[in-house]
Amino acid sequence: MTDAAPVSFYDEIGGHEVFVRLVHYFYEGVATDEVLIPMYPAHDLDGAEERLTMFLEQYWGGPNTYSQRRGHPRLRMRHAAFHVNPDARDRWLSHMRDAMDRLQLAPLHDATLWDYLQRAAHSLVNTFEPTPTPKETS
Ligand code: HEM
Repeated sequence: MTDAAPVSFYDEIGGHEVFVRLVHYFYEGVATDEVLIPMYPAHDLDGAEERLTMFLEQYWGGPNTYSQRRGHPRLRMRHAAFHVNPDARDRWLSHMRDAMDRLQLAPLHDATLWDYLQRAAHSLVNTFEPTPTPKETS
């Protein structure tokens, strides 16, 4: 018997380095996505990458840096400004799926994280209107 503290999911899958890689791979996909990329701050993609990394680390039992810097996550509210329809959700998830495939987590870890990301992404859909087309410039 040991007195060791329970190991968090964050630690189990490899800690900070693994979350950084996951979100970095994810943003490589987002950068190629014609529907998603216009929603992200062009001047601050690194900042967006850091915010999602901190959030996921905190959610899974890592450091709570996200809340120290950003306050309560309030993800529904923070996404209200973006046009998150089912197409955007599916694109977001497909870039996450690609990123997770590159990580090659153990099957149980993969299933746990993927289940959460799918549920979270579904919960953030805030419109069923089609993606607005960018205005033609004359
Ligand atoms: C469903 C499709 C989604 C779309 C289209 C989307 C889009 C965006 C955009 C455009 C931003 C602003 C980037 C920034 O400046 O930080 C953002 C921020 C963020 N998103 Fe998403 N997102 C989606 C799903 C998710 C999911 C599933 C999660 C969590 C598991 C998530 C977590 C976050 C976090 C933590 C931030 C930063 C919030 C802040 O502190 O300001 N997003 N998202």
